[in-house]
Amino acid sequence: MAYLSRLFGIRQAKDRPGAAAEHGVGPEPREMIARIRGHTMVTLPRLESLVQQVRHCEAAGLPGAFVECGVWKGGCMGLMALANLRYGSGRRDLHLFDAFTEICEPDEAIDGDRAVREVRSWAQTAGGTAGRLGPLTGFYDAFGGPGTLEENVALLERTIGYDARKIHYHKGWFQVTLPTDASGVGPIAILRLDGDWYASTRICLEHLYDLVVPSGFVIVDDYGTYDGCRRAVDEFIAGRGLDVQLQPVDSDCVYWVKD
Ligand SMILES: C[S@@+](CC[C@H](N)C(=O)[O-])C[C@H]1O[C@@H](n2cnc3c(N)ncnc32)[C@H](O)[C@@H]1O
Repeated sequence: MAYLSRLFGIRQAKDRPGAAAEHGVGPEPREMIARIRGHTMVTLPRLESLVQQVRHCEAAGLPGAFVECGVWKGGCMGLMALANLRYGSGRRDLHLFDAFTEICEPDEAIDGDRAVREVRSWAQTAGGTAGRLGPLTGFYDAFGGPGTLEENVALLERTIGYDARKIHYHKGWFQVTLPTDASGVGPIAILRLDGDWYASTRICLEHLYDLVVPSGFVIVDDYGTYDGCRRAVDEFIAGRGLDVQLQPVDSDCVYWVKD
């Protein structure tokens, strides 16, 4: 995380709204997390932080939808739905963007050694690292396979019982769905980006960042994990001339609060 401090002069996470320390992590978040644990690969500190971010949005009456790009089996969105049901006075629109199949290829020229290493170890021989928009067969085998639309529907609508009229599934590559679907999303209270690669992160910021409301949260799950994800965020911030304070959740995930 030292590079983060150098680049952005990070304030301590507890100084910012929605930081886990603000409300403490009591039994309620743990119970919610237990209900979605089998549907997410996201770490406990990130899940606890997400509950507090939703709780903050509800307490502050922040308008807007909860949006995740890269939902896999729906655990993080399920957690946001549960936290809305517990802390919110009204239901929010939930937008899920995902191919709902295996992840696409990283681009080894941008996404870095770790991405290339993981593709070589996890994906089957058809898997490449040339940034093609095709599914990397076998990439998620060790995690229980790719997340499907049906698994997300089952979790959100049947297990959690969230109002199906408020859930919007955007199936397909971000590069295809966002240019047409982003205009229908409306204001966003929480934008959670979990698409791993440079191109997947960049396209989401380009199409959705302007929809995030003032004081809304932008969460980037893989900022510290993959070179390409970090580069996409840094380039976007620099290109827009944004004055943001990146807050580390753990060694991989960061968030910021939009001014
Ligand atoms: C790391 S997983 C997401 C984990 C999830 N947030 C959770 O709670 O466990 C990344 C997901 O992003 C999807 N993804 C990555 N790049 C994408 C793209 N360009 N278009 C559509 N889906 C993409 C993958 O298919 C995968 O489902």
